[in-house]
Amino acid sequence: MSQEPSPKQASRMTIASIAKLYQQGHRIAMLTAYDYPTARTLDEAGIPMLLVGDSLGQVMLGYDSTVRVTMTEMLHHTKAVVRGTSRALVVADMPFLSYGVTPEASLENAGALLSEGGAGAVKLEGGERSAKTIEAIVRAGIPVMGHIGLTPQSIHQLGGHRVQGKTREAGRQLLTDALAVQQAGAFAVVLELVPEQLATAITERLHIPTIGIGAGAGCSGQVQVVTDVLGMSAEFTPKHARHYAELYAIIKAAAETYRDDVASGAFPGPAESTRMDEATLDGILGRTALDRPEMVEASRGIPLDRDL
Ligand code: KIV
Repeated sequence: MSQEPSPKQASRMTIASIAKLYQQGHRIAMLTAYDYPTARTLDEAGIPMLLVGDSLGQVMLGYDSTVRVTMTEMLHHTKAVVRGTSRALVVADMPFLSYGVTPEASLENAGALLSEGGAGAVKLEGGERSAKTIEAIVRAGIPVMGHIGLTPQSIHQLGGHRVQGKTREAGRQLLTDALAVQQAGAFAVVLELVPEQLATAITERLHIPTIGIGAGAGCSGQVQVVTDVLGMSAEFTPKHARHYAELYAIIKAAAETYRDDVASGAFPGPAESTRMDEATLDGILGRTALDRPEMVEASRGIPLDRDL
């Protein structure tokens, strides 16, 4: 695989341009994004794929799992990310039970993430079990990214955030899942929390890119939750994440300094304030120049004409 950085893109990435990067051997970098300013920054940094992950439930909305995220919330955040980007392919997560219940609802929800949300593709969880759903959505012209391994929407079934595919049976099932997702027409597949050797073996057996998260270096690309990468959480950072910045400490220190500056009167200063013509202000307040606070201050103890 090539180690060169992926080329910067003038027009918006499509699944065809992702396929091209993959065929040319570029490793593909993907990050989550949930809001306009972050999406804009990541887009300008040349990240080719942004995921509006349903991790937004925990990361942005303070829920305890992704299971509570709704279509309305996904649409709201997808629109913001799309508005903030001009180059990245925006992939929107299909939230829990927005797919796989009835084919009609799956199609309608996937369609809404594109037509209303503006995304370029959707992502949904599950291997063999989701193959028919993926197939129907792809057949309708909607690009789908699969997601296998640790699938957070099934966390109650999986019993926690554990590495998947570690036994012979589970590993074989994971390979079957990957092939099923590819066969169903997905343009890429996320492998989450999979042992590195197994993720590499799956990658070698597919002809679509694997995007790993906690799946080692052998995948075709990597995805990370942006707040993990930027060090925005004071609490837990998953083992698979690396801090490329320490924004929590930076933001906290900035907020503390701001708080102190407001309290001391150091903010705002002349640079952050505007002034107006004093004579106009006299007119507004119905006073003469002699009534201005600085004149009153300067004349303290000296009787004014009117006092004589
Ligand atoms: O929602 C999300 O952020 C994801 C990534 C972990 C792949 O699905």
